[in-house]
Amino acid sequence: MNKALRIAHILRNASAFQGKDVVVQGWVRTRRDSKAGISFLEVNDGSCLTNLQVILERDRPNLAAVVERLTTGSSVEVHGTLTPSPGKGQSVELLAGNIFVYGWADPARYPLQKKRHSFEFLRTIAHLRPRTNTLGAVARLRNRLSYALHTFFQEEGFFYIHTPIITTSDCEGAGDIFRVTTLHPAQPPTSNPEALYAQDFFQKPTFLTVSGQLQAEIYALALGKVYTFGPTFRAENSNTSRHLAEFWMVEPEMAFADLQDDLALAQRCLQYVVSDLLENSWEDLQFFERFVEPGLNESLKAFKEQPFEVISYTEAVNILKKCKEPFAFPVAWGADLQSEHERYLTEKAFQRPVAVIDFPRDLKPFYMRVNDDGKTVAAMDVLVPRVGEIIGGSQREDRRDMLLEQMHRKGISPEAYAWYLELREYGSAPHSGFGLGLERLVQFVTGLGNIREVIPFPRTPGHADF
Ligand code: 4AD
Ligand code: MG
Repeated sequence: MNKALRIAHILRNASAFQGKDVVVQGWVRTRRDSKAGISFLEVNDGSCLTNLQVILERDRPNLAAVVERLTTGSSVEVHGTLTPSPGKGQSVELLAGNIFVYGWADPARYPLQKKRHSFEFLRTIAHLRPRTNTLGAVARLRNRLSYALHTFFQEEGFFYIHTPIITTSDCEGAGDIFRVTTLHPAQPPTSNPEALYAQDFFQKPTFLTVSGQLQAEIYALALGKVYTFGPTFRAENSNTSRHLAEFWMVEPEMAFADLQDDLALAQRCLQYVVSDLLENSWEDLQFFERFVEPGLNESLKAFKEQPFEVISYTEAVNILKKCKEPFAFPVAWGADLQSEHERYLTEKAFQRPVAVIDFPRDLKPFYMRVNDDGKTVAAMDVLVPRVGEIIGGSQREDRRDMLLEQMHRKGISPEAYAWYLELREYGSAPHSGFGLGLERLVQFVTGLGNIREVIPFPRTPGHADF
């Protein structure tokens, strides 16, 4: 069974394989029968976007028996000889000597037929949608981006730290957290809410993490440079094209680093992974250029050369106030930047990635370092075209007294975060980091408008199937 070669490997080395006998395994995308007694199969094995064309001569008895039933979706193993293709669209094809069918797919019922299906429909068949060109390409790009992110941080000397999924802290303090409990809501062991947690698994309230940052800080203040890369969870009840309840985030954290170092790291990181894709995932990127976002490739090529435009929140608000754009949300100093504002700044005002820094203190979480003006914090949001915010980061408050003040201001219990305060008591050091949302990054490089298309199994309000 495992003598098979991957189609990507065959196509990359087509001249070496010409005239050779090869075995491939995959799924039939289409079958076309010519009058001349030949059938053409397009076989895809997921290793790349391109299908391998398989030639079946129907006068061979072993082939004639199966050809009729070989419809879209069937899984096959083809033994044949790789030959130059006279036809248009491919340089080589596989002249089948024999074909084994592992599983049929009843054409009357198989939902994926050779036509364009809407993304909404494909979401309802998430068990089959990776067999489409779009979702297959997304999966390969996600893989490559993850690999490139690990490579980038490893090459920069960062250590990969596994921060917990179950936690008692709420890093972002936004309150939209999923509770973790083994208690059954319909059968509480006691009606006394005080005594309830004593009966629960951890004997205290626990949640799914919204960010690994606080724990990454612990390790940054020991190993110097670390990153965490894992799933994070937010019960934001917002049905937007940029929010998921479960998403993946890479979070570097550096000791002895300020906001400028953080900005520089973010820029190197994004430019590195985009360059990597342009080099290694060209075929999949081309697909999105053709079918999703014309101009995508040029914009990515420009992106890897362009330094970020760095502006303060105050400057951003002034630009937004002055422009003539009809925004749905009002612009005012002290209010959050909405997606439409972010996109205006990066797509129209500057036409390049924009890092907005120094946000009002009251807009951001307790852990960000308070600036000398006492009104703003050393935060940064990196905005990119098509997406808006792709990175959120900051220099962390490393002064114990100021951190305490921030906690009081935001109603956070110093007892619950005693360990976080202690890090500021013993060998505290300036440190900084950021979070890059993997799905937003995939949206950016594919042009896909809805975040539900860039994760295999999207979790959004009311949706947790598969
Ligand atoms: O700006 P955020 O909330 O920052 C943090 O969580 C920090 N603790 C990170 C850090 O400094 N270590 O989130 C960071 C990024 C956002 O810029 C966005 O790309 C992504 O995570 N993100 C989401 N992606 C999909 N769905 C959601 N609901 C997201 N919320 C944030
Ligand atoms: Mg943010």
